[in-house]
Amino acid sequence: MKVDLLGDWRRTHTCGDLRKADVGAQVIVMGWVQTRRDHGGLIFVDLRDRYGVTQVVFNPEIAPQVHEMAHALRSEYVIAVQGTVEVRPKDMENPRIATGEIEVTVHGLKILNESKTPYFPIEDEAEVAENVRLKYRYLDLRRGRMQENLLLRHRAAKIVRDYLSSQGFVEIETPFLTRSTPEGARDYLVPSRMNPGSFYALPQSPQLFKQLLMVSGFDRYFQIVKCFRDEDLRADRQPEFTQIDAEMSFVGPEDIQECMEGMLEAVFGAILGIQLTRPFPRMSYHEAMARYGSDRPDLRFGMELVDVIDVVSQSNFQVFTQAIEEGGIVKGINLRGGGGRSRKEIEELVGTAQSYGAKGLAWLKVEAEGYQSPIAKFFRPEDLQEIAARMEGRPGDLLLFVADGAQVVHEVLGQLRIHLAREGGLIKTGAYQFLWVVDFPLLEYDEEQKRYVAVHHPFTAPREEDWVRLKDAPLEVRANAYDIVLNGSEIGGGSIRNHRGDIQRQLFEILGIGKEEAEAKFGFLLEALDYGAPPHGGIAFGFDRLVMMLCNAESIREVIPFPKTQKASCPLTGSPATVDPQQLKELYLKVDI
Ligand code: AMO
Ligand code: AMP
Repeated sequence: MKVDLLGDWRRTHTCGDLRKADVGAQVIVMGWVQTRRDHGGLIFVDLRDRYGVTQVVFNPEIAPQVHEMAHALRSEYVIAVQGTVEVRPKDMENPRIATGEIEVTVHGLKILNESKTPYFPIEDEAEVAENVRLKYRYLDLRRGRMQENLLLRHRAAKIVRDYLSSQGFVEIETPFLTRSTPEGARDYLVPSRMNPGSFYALPQSPQLFKQLLMVSGFDRYFQIVKCFRDEDLRADRQPEFTQIDAEMSFVGPEDIQECMEGMLEAVFGAILGIQLTRPFPRMSYHEAMARYGSDRPDLRFGMELVDVIDVVSQSNFQVFTQAIEEGGIVKGINLRGGGGRSRKEIEELVGTAQSYGAKGLAWLKVEAEGYQSPIAKFFRPEDLQEIAARMEGRPGDLLLFVADGAQVVHEVLGQLRIHLAREGGLIKTGAYQFLWVVDFPLLEYDEEQKRYVAVHHPFTAPREEDWVRLKDAPLEVRANAYDIVLNGSEIGGGSIRNHRGDIQRQLFEILGIGKEEAEAKFGFLLEALDYGAPPHGGIAFGFDRLVMMLCNAESIREVIPFPKTQKASCPLTGSPATVDPQQLKELYLKVDI
């Protein structure tokens, strides 16, 4: 078959442009063959580009030679047609597409390229294994849904840029070849040919550079920037991902939060047409853990965790009393209307709780006549009544309890709450529940390393009023940090920083980072703080996560053009890959597996 060159043909319209008002016009449209329907006489082709689909018609009576050529057309061939816009007969109109009232009667055809048959049809509905989609990502990205996602991503980025620029923020680039930034993941390292044995680290975030830019007096910085973290991947994590990163000088946490709410208001208003209610609610870390068992609670539904320690400690149920004696807690959640579940179904729930780390799951059905439960016999009737009252248990409800250390109880019930809400369809779709989680602890104790580590990162300032407790009760000290949560997903986090060198040095000491280590790793920051660093703080949003929520997608891979698999590899390019021995030699590296 002959494949044509473009020659002097130029596109007059895209496949989404033509309407009834264009009837009679001579046009040239180009695109991909979505479908070809051969009706014996007429051949219909749906021609597709990113703007839409236009029906083009090959008529043997109007252009016999061209009609003959059209027999060769196959899915995903790239063609150009020249023809006349005509009204479709009434019964042939297609109200589902914007160009559905017209068609183009073809006079001339150029086949610009052929195509092999794709491994999957270029349709949203096609169910395709993800590794196949990723291997043929360029075909996957032809699909309407993926095109919409990336176009939305582009619009969101533009709104963010426009909004932050309007607020006086300056977009400044920071290096990728740099030193390790401690954000809690492993670094990706890049060997230096010029400096044998030395490595750059790809930034886990621009944290240190944005602080340096505050020292330089830029006052308001932002960047939509790639970050690199070698960590275990999940649906909302990628080894390289994008942050909306920002930093401000001479501000308190409320100033940053207010400004960022404005950014989200602009994004959600323009993209989803939703007016967000501001200010967003705020909740302390401790309250979030106590009520929802999570530091990123999904507030679209209730089913809060209820503390029943005082009541159950009176009982004879050893599982509970023993857990309490050992310093643990007992909490429950009420699965409204769950009382109809069979033993077998409840056993499955117990299994689910165990998969989240519980030793077991105790349960109590509330009935009109009383309570049904294998553990009811261990309780006084008035105590069962008190438990049910506290959990707002009504006949037909199923109350579920976990006894263990606080961490396990919160983790298990927090996850179970989400599991049950999803399963029961309790989560309102189309709702966007924002929440600032504040007053995180500054430090936590790392059993493995036998030292305190920063919950956020080591540059986060303690709350001023807690500063005095750093020495005697470090775990009680609250950080001047905040996370922003949307529908149960952490979409951003930030803090006020230690802008004084002496305070930052003290904090490193408490973190068990000795003077020498601090100087070696962060000396440049410490030194910069000594040259008149202004008070400053900032935040970073996971841009992929934000776009994923805007697109209502299940995974951030749906909004990243070329993502990695769960094993951090790319089926399209085959990365990561081994390299030429010569390349290793130049880098003074030997592979030793
Ligand atoms: P943090 O580490 O909380 O803060 O990161 C900010 C936000 O980035 C998103 N995120 C990710 N998204 C996709 N894949 C990943 N692997 C991944 N890791 C994090 C999350 C998270 O809330 N420098 C600080 C910010 C600051 O203090 O200003 C930082 O990076 O949505
Ligand atoms: P057992 O005494 O182990 O047979 O457990 C009696 C009931 O208590 C079973 O329904 C278990 O699932 C439940 N159970 C066991 N351990 C716990 C726990 N840590 N928290 C809540 N329920 C538990």
